[in-house]
Amino acid sequence: MEMESEIDVKALFNLTYGMYIISTEWEGKKNGQIANSVMQVTATPNTVAVCLNKDNLTWELLRNSGKFTVTVLEEEVPMTFIGNFGFKSGRDIDKFASCAWKSAPGGTPVVLDYALSWIEAKVFNRVDVYTHSVFFGEVVASSCLKQGCPLTYANYHLVKKGKSPKSAPTYNLNAVK
Ligand SMILES: Cc1cc2nc3c(=O)[nH]c(=O)nc-3n(C[C@H](O)[C@H](O)[C@H](O)COP(=O)(O)O)c2cc1C
Repeated sequence: MEMESEIDVKALFNLTYGMYIISTEWEGKKNGQIANSVMQVTATPNTVAVCLNKDNLTWELLRNSGKFTVTVLEEEVPMTFIGNFGFKSGRDIDKFASCAWKSAPGGTPVVLDYALSWIEAKVFNRVDVYTHSVFFGEVVASSCLKQGCPLTYANYHLVKKGKSPKSAPTYNLNAVK
């Protein structure tokens, strides 16, 4: 007799997230991608974690560079902007050619469009988890750019009616709508 599954994936849909761009640079190639899977891990020192798909160009560049920037996106960010960073790969386009950016003190590119604040971190650990890796970074610089409401993952899905590509850890959230 087949066992009934004890996993109701809808239980995971109640987890809450923000919306961020993770950017890095390696050997002159700048790239960034949308990620919802960012969290602060400790306060002394300040550390953060981000979960990236191993197929993404950002994963590859970050594995080599060992440093990244998190840009916190505001609620007003247009879907076209999210589409560029979240549904296209830097292997096909230069994402930094069409956005405002600057270099953080540690040398990583920071996306400035629709940005409330940014956090630059140096990777001190990486844990591979099947299709993804969680990169742990110690914060080396951070700054607030303007006041505003950060875009939440729930707002992106329920108000903006956005989707998540297969590479996102929370891809199966598409199924609830
Ligand atoms: C709403 C949303 C959330 C996403 N969250 C993540 C994430 O947390 N981790 C991840 O690896 N990819 C995530 N993605 C997918 C990447 O942004 C996407 O695969 C991107 O095209 C990778 O680009 P790259 O190849 O230039 O690195 C998300 C995409 C969207 C639209």
